[in-house]
Amino acid sequence: MSAVAPASLTDPWTLGSLRVPNRVLLAPLAGIGNWFVRLQAKRYGAGMAVSEMVSSHAIHHGNAKTCNEMLRIDPAEREHGPVSIQLFGEDPAIMRSAAAHVAALGADAIDINMGCPVPKVQKTGAGAALLGDPDRAVAVARAAVEGAGGLGGIPVTVKLRSGLRAGDESGFAVAHRLVEEAGVAAIAFHPRSAAVHHKGTPDYALAARLVASLPAPVILTGGLADAAHVRTVFVETGASAVMLARGALGNPWLFAELVGARERPPSPDEVMRELDWTIDRAVEHLGEERAGRYLRKFYPWYVARLQLEAPLARRLAESLQSTAGVGAAREILGHSQELLPASR
Ligand SMILES: Cc1cc2nc3c(=O)[nH]c(=O)nc-3n(C[C@H](O)[C@H](O)[C@H](O)COP(=O)(O)O)c2cc1C
Repeated sequence: MSAVAPASLTDPWTLGSLRVPNRVLLAPLAGIGNWFVRLQAKRYGAGMAVSEMVSSHAIHHGNAKTCNEMLRIDPAEREHGPVSIQLFGEDPAIMRSAAAHVAALGADAIDINMGCPVPKVQKTGAGAALLGDPDRAVAVARAAVEGAGGLGGIPVTVKLRSGLRAGDESGFAVAHRLVEEAGVAAIAFHPRSAAVHHKGTPDYALAARLVASLPAPVILTGGLADAAHVRTVFVETGASAVMLARGALGNPWLFAELVGARERPPSPDEVMRELDWTIDRAVEHLGEERAGRYLRKFYPWYVARLQLEAPLARRLAESLQSTAGVGAAREILGHSQELLPASR
């Protein structure tokens, strides 16, 4: 009997027809996962990055902001591995049309959101609401597969929850139907119910059961913020890959650590340089004025890694968040250099 060696996070794997260079991926993050956040994750070693969720209806109707900004893929993103665009919607015909558009645009893969718990999304029948309507979930996914070019086209994955409420494991059966009836290439599994949103411990045992029974790769997401923990659950569940979400906010170094490219946390200088890179890219993407507002949510993530005393970190984050534009933020950051531990 020959034992098969367990996969390592740095091993390549295949997603449908796609080769993914490693098993550490960036999760979809609404309002965050644009081209430059994905590029940042890739620069630090992510094998694949998934976009923020994008409305299939907005794409179908040609909404300019959606098509020009949210669907923007930077050629440099691809140098490091594939890019997947996540779509949400409840209407199969609209989903087919949006998937065809995204495939024509050059996305390497498409993910369908069947996990979003936000009432505004669920009310329309999209996101996690599809777990309660498995026939529609299958129809939406099948339409996406058709729109993406059929079985010879780009792979379609679905990201879903374990169920709608605590104790509900309907996501398990829906995952099987999506693979077996709709031709979905992989399932990204978040083993928390939609009702708890992002709270509580994910049910990794359920994820392991899905891995053992599903005839397609399972990508694990949920609670993956610490390198040692990520390695443990990757082995324990037998998942094909892991997806980092909150653990990667302002923390691309977690990718580097997981792919064996570094061992130590970033120095305050490295954090400052990365924040600077992020500000530059946001201005490139949105222009000075909009970037100033957009970046307000980003600042605290980086400030938290500057190794400052808590009250000082809080004051710095607050003053950055109250800036009117990137010029003022850069000025504050310039003055803050002398406060950093390494430059004392
Ligand atoms: C701010 C934020 C935005 C998110 N946006 C999306 C999204 O657009 N699509 C999606 O499928 N999941 C989304 N998620 C869920 C994450 O992709 C991930 O599955 C979840 O946060 C669990 O991982 P974690 O516990 O490591 O954060 C979002 C989560 C957060 C915190």
